[in-house]
Amino acid sequence: MTTTPDTTHLAGHPLTALEPFGVRVDAARPGAPVTDLPVPRLRELVREHHLLLLRGFTGPGGPGELTDYSARWGEIGMWPYGAVLELVEHDDPDDHIFDHRYVPLHWDGMYREQVPEFQVFHCVSAPGEGNGGRTTFTQTEAVLREAEPGRRALWEQVTGRYRREVSQVYAGESVSPVVTTHPDGFPVIRYNEPVPPGEEFLNHPDLEFTGVPAERLAEFHATLQEALHDPRHLYAHEWRTDDVVVADNYTLLHGREAFASRSPRHLRRVHVLGTPPLTNPALVR
Ligand SMILES: [Fe+2]
Repeated sequence: MTTTPDTTHLAGHPLTALEPFGVRVDAARPGAPVTDLPVPRLRELVREHHLLLLRGFTGPGGPGELTDYSARWGEIGMWPYGAVLELVEHDDPDDHIFDHRYVPLHWDGMYREQVPEFQVFHCVSAPGEGNGGRTTFTQTEAVLREAEPGRRALWEQVTGRYRREVSQVYAGESVSPVVTTHPDGFPVIRYNEPVPPGEEFLNHPDLEFTGVPAERLAEFHATLQEALHDPRHLYAHEWRTDDVVVADNYTLLHGREAFASRSPRHLRRVHVLGTPPLTNPALVR
């Protein structure tokens, strides 16, 4: 369900609703610096609409500028590699995020000490027409609100356990009820979707779902995935060069559609922590 923004402009730039959720600001003057937009107002928009697209602006010029820009949003969630993740296909990927294949729905920071509130993405180079590579976002608060009660009752019984051993940067173990609570008190879903049968996937986590009899797990995954991928709740972002997207990682799950190998898709991503930072309630080790 789309919530219509209560204003039509932001600092003179037109503001429109995205479907099925989110909000978009288009540069009134093509190439206006994205840094001119008031971050406190943008932050409110992400908290209310869960996803914000800034299009037609001149984005941060490089990783340093993106770091500086993201720091205006809040405390940066640092990784061993630094603040900026360069999301680009590697020749010999050591993890699925550097591959060109499908990435299942998940939330960021599931194996970290702190879960970031915001993901700030900058599209350095779009994958190009027809090359795929949309980033998918699903609005889990709406999924729960509109779920058929019997399905929701099933999901509420299940706990997921996720473990990754392979890579030092992403290793860890986390355990979370599938239906849990946003820091502001409303129900959200934390779920790492299993890889569809037949898909190849590097560094796949070990997944274990408990709380219902084993014979109900297939129904659990099928009904939950149908709801998460329902077009009424899922927004698939088709990247254009210089798009800036900020997403609410507390409420949304996200993933990636496969893209054509060797296409020029290049995103940068920075994590911004909440105020105060959210200690990861799911982390086991
Ligand atoms: Fe992610």
